[in-house]
Amino acid sequence: MLAFTPESALAAIEGMGYPVVLKPAVGSWGRLLARVNDRDAAEALLEHKVVLGSFQHGAFYVQEYVRKPGRDIRSFVVGDRTICAIYRESPHWITNTARGGEANDCPVTPELDRLSRAAAAAVGGGVVAVDLLEGERGLLVNEVNYTMEFRNSIHTTGVDIPGLIADHVIAVGRAGRAARAAHRVDPAALVAGPRAAR
Ligand SMILES: Nc1ncnc2c1ncn2[C@@H]1O[C@H](COP(=O)(O)OP(=O)(O)O)[C@@H](O)[C@H]1O
Ligand SMILES: [Mg+2]
Repeated sequence: MLAFTPESALAAIEGMGYPVVLKPAVGSWGRLLARVNDRDAAEALLEHKVVLGSFQHGAFYVQEYVRKPGRDIRSFVVGDRTICAIYRESPHWITNTARGGEANDCPVTPELDRLSRAAAAAVGGGVVAVDLLEGERGLLVNEVNYTMEFRNSIHTTGVDIPGLIADHVIAVGRAGRAARAAHRVDPAALVAGPRAAR
């Protein structure tokens, strides 16, 4: 849930039930994440955000805390393919490799593939990384990253992630150029365009 006042954030948290996770709407490396176990902690955190935070922390992003098996899943979507995935294992509930999580290869099952591509499509597709949690209700999408890092995932998965990204970018560029060229062959369309109409 997203709330814009500390009062409505507290109402959202209490409605969801403890523990909840508070996190910045845009962030990375597991920074500024908080698992909030009770009302005292919720009130303190919200007050700190209001008094000490920048305006970006004025949008309160509240998630249910998902009990997961000591790891999460990071999948990589390039165009219309889920090219690979890793488990990020950690004794800490925040499993980012930037926070010490260990990367291991994760098989791309049909369900993981379907969910990853759907999550990517929901934000416009392209090149994204999806964080998923193995919750009691099944596989849940936690986050979609539009400026993903992949240093720890190339040797772990054996997939040439940067190579596939470069291939995708070139294919998108070529398709765009072909579309522009097709558009140019009709000079009448240019003459009758919005400029001529004015
Ligand atoms: N709601 C949640 N329930 C359980 N674990 C979570 C939850 N949100 C985040 N985590 C853990 O914290 C990590 C970082 O959270 P994430 O939302 O992906 O932020 P970041 O953008 O910093 O990577 C996740 O990879 C996951 O291990
Ligand atoms: Mg993440």
